[in-house]
Amino acid sequence: ILSAVTGLNVMSDPCSFSSFTRCVTKHLNLHLHLDFDRHVIRGRVALTVEVLEDRFSTLTLDSSDLSVVSVTANGQPVSLPSSLSVLMAWQHVIVEVTYETSPSATALQWLTPEQTAGKKHPYLFSQCQAHHCRSMIPCQDTPSIKHTYYAQVSVPKDLVTVMSAVRDGQEVDPQDSGRIIYRFRQTVPMPSYLIAIVAGALESREIGPRSRVWSEKEFVDKAAFEFSETEAMLKTAEELAGPYVWGQYDVLVLPPSFPYGGMENPCLTFATPTLLVIAHEISHSWTGNLVTNKTWEHFWVSGVCTFSFHSPVLVISQVNTFGANNPLTNLVPSLQDVNPDDAFSSVPYEKGFALLYHLEEQLGGPEVFMGFVKSYIQRFAYSSVTTEEWKNYLFAYFKDKVDILNKVDWNAWMFTPGMPPVKPQYDTTMADACNALSQRWLQAKDQDLNSFKQSDVKTLSSHQVIEFLSLLLQEDPLPLTHVKKMQEVYDLNAYMNAEIRFRWLRLCVRSRWEEVVPLALKMATDQGRMKFTRPLFREVFNFEKFRDEALRVFLAHRAGMHPVTSGLVSKDLKVDVSNAASQ
Ligand code: BES
Repeated sequence: ILSAVTGLNVMSDPCSFSSFTRCVTKHLNLHLHLDFDRHVIRGRVALTVEVLEDRFSTLTLDSSDLSVVSVTANGQPVSLPSSLSVLMAWQHVIVEVTYETSPSATALQWLTPEQTAGKKHPYLFSQCQAHHCRSMIPCQDTPSIKHTYYAQVSVPKDLVTVMSAVRDGQEVDPQDSGRIIYRFRQTVPMPSYLIAIVAGALESREIGPRSRVWSEKEFVDKAAFEFSETEAMLKTAEELAGPYVWGQYDVLVLPPSFPYGGMENPCLTFATPTLLVIAHEISHSWTGNLVTNKTWEHFWVSGVCTFSFHSPVLVISQVNTFGANNPLTNLVPSLQDVNPDDAFSSVPYEKGFALLYHLEEQLGGPEVFMGFVKSYIQRFAYSSVTTEEWKNYLFAYFKDKVDILNKVDWNAWMFTPGMPPVKPQYDTTMADACNALSQRWLQAKDQDLNSFKQSDVKTLSSHQVIEFLSLLLQEDPLPLTHVKKMQEVYDLNAYMNAEIRFRWLRLCVRSRWEEVVPLALKMATDQGRMKFTRPLFREVFNFEKFRDEALRVFLAHRAGMHPVTSGLVSKDLKVDVSNAASQ
């Protein structure tokens, strides 16, 4: 990050150096040239900036690992100080930055042809949330600012590129007939973290009146089938939350190294092929993309309001690698001097879900609460909010129920680490069976093991198997004899559902089952979703005898891993960062 202009700057976003209290970006005009040989993007971005103060002001842009070639303001060259700061002498300024990204830009993963399904062409995808856009574009990289964008992207002609925007035509690159320029427009103001790009040998299929699915051709038909319910889900969401404002809703199915299950990039959700993920990402079209968290400290406000669209999940998972006293387990953590990637966990999802569920119960049930959610969305659409603003609106909307709201221990919910102050009373019928079965295993003596039968799990849904394993993972490790018996009667090794598999493999490694270690490391590297990869590596690393093996496998795969994933696994496995910069 290049900026450190002044201590005078009133910085209300601890994760951004950009001077957004004085100047705000309204629009980005992007020219991007993707260089697959050098793994860099050559870029030129024109930012339309409005100056909020009527005297001279300074614009500071966030940037990470960019090499800046030149800067102009309203066409006049700007000589750069040590930071990307521009003195603004006008009310409206077009600041143009010509730059190049680094091959190790944290927003980008460049895949070699061998890492793709088709094996013939390279592939590039971005992941900007939370604070990585600055490694792709110099910008005011804070969710408190929203702008539109227009982009023209030049790629080799064998490749197709799509962005988080509406497609706006293509032409042969006038400077190089071996390349095509694709154009995109995003006319709805949105935060920088939602800018996204993908390029590869992509194909697409129509799956609805406003939806296509994109992927390498090897997966496109399967994906079209998998996501055929997209339009029905969009319609349901519109009934609940108001009109879908983004025009197109496409889905991109990514290669397995994508570090998340899904990412709600506007007009083009990035996803692994799971319907539940799509339901979640569709709901972000309202909470998150339309009403956005003002800073990453308020992540839960947009991340979790998606709750309103989900049916309640079983039980809150209490497995928490942070530990119950860690301030990062606050619903609203302080991110002063904290990297948002290090702070990210399931806590805001689970605690936020518990809070909203609790409020819903207290205030009169789903219909009443959904009325609030819809009204809140309309009130704050196109803006960014803090937890405080969310809460004030809750009190205003439920002005007749303030006595109920005043009974809520807000400080405990928001600013206290550990488990939520109230354990919501879910319907536990489904969970009871999981609980009973996990208790049987926990209490079983060796001579009881023959009482377990294949039929124990035959009647359980996959959600219940997940819950059963989660409950066991919260306890001390089972004896090795027990997990071996579990494999013998339930054959959990045969389950391909990733949510089941990663929990099962962790359970076995924790019980020191040596033969399972290669399976755990295989799953950790065959795909790269951090939710699976990080705990699997950690689990093997904690098995003393295989610590070196975990490190060896990680180091062997690191160069082909997503930069954020490899960075976080390095930290998890305490790999010396001085020899970790290998990409
Ligand atoms: N926007 C998030 C993913 C994210 C969060 C990326 C923070 C970077 C920083 C996305 O909506 C998400 O939560 N995806 C989940 C899907 C699940 C809840 C169905 C995931 O990736 O696991």
